[in-house]
Amino acid sequence: MNTLASLYQPVEAVIADIIPETRDTTTYHFVFRDSQGEEFVFEPGQFNMLTVFGIGEAAISISSDPYRGDGFTHTIRHVGSVTKAVTRLEKGSVVGIRGPYGTGWPVDLLQGCNILVVAGGIGLAPLRPVLYLLGRERKAVGRVELLYGARTPRDLLFAAEYDHWRDKGIKVLLTVDEVPEGTIWEHSQGVVTGLFDRMKSTPENTIVLTCGPEIMMKFVAQGLAERGFSPEQIYVSLERRMECGVGKCGRCQIGPKFVCKDGPVFAYAELLSLPEEVL
Ligand SMILES: Cc1cc2nc3c(=O)[nH]c(=O)nc-3n(C[C@H](O)[C@H](O)[C@H](O)COP(=O)(O)OP(=O)(O)OC[C@H]3O[C@@H](n4cnc5c(N)ncnc54)[C@H](O)[C@@H]3O)c2cc1C
Ligand code: FES
Repeated sequence: MNTLASLYQPVEAVIADIIPETRDTTTYHFVFRDSQGEEFVFEPGQFNMLTVFGIGEAAISISSDPYRGDGFTHTIRHVGSVTKAVTRLEKGSVVGIRGPYGTGWPVDLLQGCNILVVAGGIGLAPLRPVLYLLGRERKAVGRVELLYGARTPRDLLFAAEYDHWRDKGIKVLLTVDEVPEGTIWEHSQGVVTGLFDRMKSTPENTIVLTCGPEIMMKFVAQGLAERGFSPEQIYVSLERRMECGVGKCGRCQIGPKFVCKDGPVFAYAELLSLPEEVL
């Protein structure tokens, strides 16, 4: 799909299902309209450029199981022109898709390792394909822990799936910033780094995958460093404004790196070696 001839030409995909997640976020399942979609395979952590025709394009991570095989899923927080226009679409509506683009999570490195996943808000979306993969390949890896934080209990994404992930041997620890009066909440309250005191993960043979607001990832990296984790063990997914998505326009550039092409997933150690401070 990414030949030069078709670089900026989106392929049409149809909304096959719409799953409300929270008050501002919805998951959409897409299937391709024609056979071009048969070539579509993605790595966990990659993104597509999604076009709402007549409005514009936005970078959106793929949030589905990479082995699902009948299309792909995007989980979209409705914040701006494109992502709000998506709310006006229905089952059967057509969007444009370019992708998949960017680097994925380092899944080849995970074999035999313990894995700590730390997510905040919409940051769980690009990590969900890895959680599906880890659930499937559970015996090939060691301990798997997910620490996930959201604003309130109503803002947690994929809430119906946590028990399934637990059944697959993934320890899920949850926290929220606020618990509205009258809400029953049996988990933690406070920022996601507050869960570090409750996790079993240690630096030993562990790889950390994290995505969320940059301030969260900064404190995650700092908090883990205090616990003896090295920058080489930590992988982060960055978000920058994007236009081309393929390393041509320079919109997403950080020093010598293009977030769309060299990322969005970077080793934290690689970011520390850049001339400008990123997190
Ligand atoms: C690799 C990657 C993966 C992403 N995955 C997802 C995903 O899975 N789901 C999802 O909902 N979103 C995702 N995003 C974010 C999404 O691309 C942006 O929010 C995008 O701006 C939305 O487009 P829009 O036209 O709706 O918003 P716009 O109209 O462009 O802007 C909306 C508002 O948000 C502000 N804004 C948006 N993005 C940024 C930014 N990066 N930096 C500073 N201000 C910003 C704008 O100033 C404006 O106020 C991802 C971004 C990247 C780079
Ligand atoms: S979005 Fe154009 S270079 Fe990255």
